Amino acid sequence: MSLLIKDGTVVTAEHTYLADIYCEEGIIKGIGENLEVPSGADVVDAGEALVMPGGIDPHTHMELPFMGTVTADDFLSGPSAGLAGGTTMIIDFVIPSPEQSLLEAFDTWMANAQKAPSDYSFHVAVTWWSDQVREEMGILARERGVNSFKHFMAYKGAIMLDDEMLLKSFERCQELGAMATVHAENGELIYHLQNKLLAMGITGPEGHVQSRPPEVEGEATQRAITVAGAVNAPLYVVHCSCKQSLGAIAAARANGQAVYGEALAQHLVIDESTHYLPDQALAAAHIMSPPFRSKEHRDAIWGGLQSGALQTTATDHCAFCAPQKALGKDNFAMTPNGCGGIEDRLSILWDRGVKTGLITPNEFVRITSTAAAKIFNVYPRKGEIRIGSDADIVVWDPEASRTVSASTHHSNMDFNLYEGMHLTGLARATVSHGKKVWDGSELHVETGVGQYISRPTYSNVFDRVRKYEALNAPRRVERAEAAE
Ligand code: URP
Ligand code: ZN
Ligand code: ZN
Repeated sequence: MSLLIKDGTVVTAEHTYLADIYCEEGIIKGIGENLEVPSGADVVDAGEALVMPGGIDPHTHMELPFMGTVTADDFLSGPSAGLAGGTTMIIDFVIPSPEQSLLEAFDTWMANAQKAPSDYSFHVAVTWWSDQVREEMGILARERGVNSFKHFMAYKGAIMLDDEMLLKSFERCQELGAMATVHAENGELIYHLQNKLLAMGITGPEGHVQSRPPEVEGEATQRAITVAGAVNAPLYVVHCSCKQSLGAIAAARANGQAVYGEALAQHLVIDESTHYLPDQALAAAHIMSPPFRSKEHRDAIWGGLQSGALQTTATDHCAFCAPQKALGKDNFAMTPNGCGGIEDRLSILWDRGVKTGLITPNEFVRITSTAAAKIFNVYPRKGEIRIGSDADIVVWDPEASRTVSASTHHSNMDFNLYEGMHLTGLARATVSHGKKVWDGSELHVETGVGQYISRPTYSNVFDRVRKYEALNAPRRVERAEAAE
């Protein structure tokens, strides 16, 4: 199977140039102007369009059992929606139940993902601690291609880790050369505030945002950074949504610590007021953690992406439909946390970021694709247009526009956060494994052709981390024998 993408403007994180791209057997085999290629190749006309590495969404939850239900998108529907929006790879989260074997959970996610139409990889969450967990982290890192482990500092009584477990797991990550990743919210404080609000009779969705103020996120982010620094583990903070958390990440980076930060597309555009909507079901549809913030925080997160304090964008695609959200109709704390958006991330970033002049097209590629590939160690196989890289490509029309709606999106969700938004910038075609799977109006996906992408640990990449001294180096004082 071969494919020629003709007459496009190639945009990578580094360069912009005119070229055709020739793909064969799922790999980029030729790049150049007026390429001569073997006859019989499919042709995609990219005239007037940009040709970029396919988006990588490093934070999704397909088929996740969570808060009494299971997310509405599986490994076929979710990634298909991603392809329609130009995203060609996801990194999903294996989340074992406390006491469950990490390997057993990994096998379950792997089995679920057999239907994926595009490539995928897994972070694995550490939701409890024991010698077995320690051992299995090693097996996952050495034998199963897992180089990142997730830690939830929230969701008390379910998957939350205490500080002792966090420390032990971060230390293990450092030993293995793996990235520690963290959902940073102070779960104890949230639990306290939830109970206080409920006791006051605040049971509706507004209680969600009131129990998770920015300080709760800022404190946990700083704590995670301090713990990671103490054991010299590289740290990736998922869904950074507020000034406090961003400030902690930026300060740590300025101090030489290996800390990375992710912004979600929805935290860049959706306002805190959505948690106070009079229509309770609509407000519940917006419940996710961290919650939506005010403009002041959204502007700060844009600034974090511009300055490089935050490197990646994701969606945290965690789809729930109205009957699932209704599990919390009498108690906001029981509402399944999560929103969708895998199909819309690139359009949001283009419309609100590139079109407004906040970021350049090259920066767009960096924050939607290349940075995630580098941080999670799949570069240049992914996140790049280069001979030998995987032919995961989006042909991006920077001028075309669409109006977002749940009635036309490809996710199984009955709701879209961006409903009614008119967005400029869309995928004219998406190429996965060298095959056109989205033609701008229809999906042509094949169940199960997606491959698991193994991600080696960093070993020497993070040597510089070891040069960082977060805490005082141990120092022994030699004392003379006490005189008789
Ligand atoms: O509300 C969210 N973000 N749900 C998905 C699980 C998580 O916290 O990432
Ligand atoms: Zn989270
Ligand atoms: Zn998540």
